[in-house]
Amino acid sequence: MNNIYEPQLVKITKIEEQSPTVKLFRLEKIDGKFKKDEDGLVFRPGQFVMVGQIGYGESPLGPLSSPYEDKYIEIAARKAGTVTSYLHSLKEGDEITLRGPLGNGFPLEFMEGKDVVCATGGCGIPPIAALVEYMVENKEKFGRIYVLYGAKTPDELLMREKMKDWEKEGVKIILTIDKPNKNWKGPVGFVTDLVKEIEVDEVNAVATMCGPGPMVGALEKVLRPLGISDRRIFVSMERKMQCGVGKCQHCTTGKKYVCLDGPVFNYDEIENNKD
Ligand SMILES: Cc1cc2nc3c(=O)[nH]c(=O)nc-3n(C[C@H](O)[C@H](O)[C@H](O)COP(=O)(O)OP(=O)(O)OC[C@H]3O[C@@H](n4cnc5c(N)ncnc54)[C@H](O)[C@@H]3O)c2cc1C
Ligand code: FES
Repeated sequence: MNNIYEPQLVKITKIEEQSPTVKLFRLEKIDGKFKKDEDGLVFRPGQFVMVGQIGYGESPLGPLSSPYEDKYIEIAARKAGTVTSYLHSLKEGDEITLRGPLGNGFPLEFMEGKDVVCATGGCGIPPIAALVEYMVENKEKFGRIYVLYGAKTPDELLMREKMKDWEKEGVKIILTIDKPNKNWKGPVGFVTDLVKEIEVDEVNAVATMCGPGPMVGALEKVLRPLGISDRRIFVSMERKMQCGVGKCQHCTTGKKYVCLDGPVFNYDEIENNKD
């Protein structure tokens, strides 16, 4: 995209209700396409953008569309407070501001040639979705790909349609629910319970996670027996942010800035600062 300090205007060209509290927004530039880097990527999976409006502020959100797509980027926002409630009040055709991409993203080159376990819960799916889109485009570079995804209720599982496309590409998707309804036929329980259903090359596997601190801590304990050490676990962290570029100190975790040094960290870097 552009100058990281300068918000650009984008138009909302599609809004989709993904759950009772989460909406997906497709954003297009007013004047052409998004800029790609030398690898053909508009952003690196795991990076975030600051989305907002003058007078309301900005929120960090993870793009979930394919990073190769330059006509639009898609984000999903849970209605939490000022900025995200404002986003939920908008309609197709409205304009908002976008800044970024910011942060580091997942270590794509390190992950090549390995089995990849992506584990997430609730509204943590966007950065994982962009990563899966990237891996599906580059299938020959990765081993087995698993998505382990949990939500409180079936209504809160996001991106179900997209997951059908990923399954056709060979991605193994396992979903779980805390509180099933009468139509739910899948597993019931926590994401950690799903780990027993996967098989990875223990010397050649990595895990990526995005979700609440307690989920990340619990997952690490069940991934370790599979041979996935802390150095091969990559966690996308959420922190309250303001500037997104290392100037305001709102996002610090220990000595690190989530906006600059992250949001993706090795598990061993953040073990004591997960929440
Ligand atoms: C790198 C990154 C990526 C993110 N990606 C997504 C995403 O793809 N989709 C999505 O829905 N949300 C995502 N979030 C969380 C999102 O940024 C916050 O929910 C949002 O900024 C809240 O802004 P608000 O003005 O609506 O709420 P506020 O009025 O600021 O706050 C409302 C409530 O939300 C809490 N809150 C505010 N910011 C955060 C935060 N960063 N993390 C956790 N709780 C927060 C506040 O403590 C308060 O309880 C991401 C956060 C980060 C740091
Ligand atoms: S958000 Fe301002 S320093 Fe990270």
